Amino acid sequence: MTNFRPNRRRAAVLISGSGTNLQSFIDKIQTGDLALDLCVVLSNNSGAAGLSRANNAQIPTVCISHNNYPDRQSFDAALVEALDPYLPDFIILAGFMRVLTPIFIAKFEGRILNIHPSLLPDYPGLNTHQRAIDAGEKWAGSTVHFATEELDAGPMIIQGRVPIKREDTAEQLAARVLKIEHQIYPEALSLLSMERLKYEGGAAYLDGKLLLKPIQYS
Ligand code: GAR
Repeated sequence: MTNFRPNRRRAAVLISGSGTNLQSFIDKIQTGDLALDLCVVLSNNSGAAGLSRANNAQIPTVCISHNNYPDRQSFDAALVEALDPYLPDFIILAGFMRVLTPIFIAKFEGRILNIHPSLLPDYPGLNTHQRAIDAGEKWAGSTVHFATEELDAGPMIIQGRVPIKREDTAEQLAARVLKIEHQIYPEALSLLSMERLKYEGGAAYLDGKLLLKPIQYS
């Protein structure tokens, strides 16, 4: 997976935890359903299980703990410096639990994707599943969007929804949402790698047309 293929776009994947979304990219690349090179997996957490997934797939890994930096800006500057040698075309945030500053966003503007486990614009931020259950919502889901300086608010690309069952715990709902994430995130990456999906002037375009609403995955 580390072989350099000049015709393929290169993506750096940033993770903090178990990396099941990362695994979904690895699996789709291995079956030939996603034409993308994962050039590096970076984590702020040396204990992230996703790092083993990267190692198993022979993807280079980098670990930079935010605890070693006095503020978000210096941490972000270190991230930029660490990613530089891998020449990523895209930055894929896949469960990366750090808020990025304009230092990072500006460097990769329009080339950063994030996945957020809610039907944005509802429930940005943390504890989305419990908040949706507490509010009596019937539906939950996940949204892939371009990351901008505003948290969980960049142009939306694709959304997948799942029902909330009456007896759901946040953990049960999270597991159901993850399953749909493993479908929608590789789909968004595929559109990006084929250059069908683009970011321009603060908006998302699919096949040259402004995406007014996220693609609904079902
Ligand atoms: C995913 O559900 C993702 O949407 C969420 O973290 C999980 C990571 O799972 N991201 C956020 O909450 C970002 N604010 P994974 O490590 O198994 O891919």
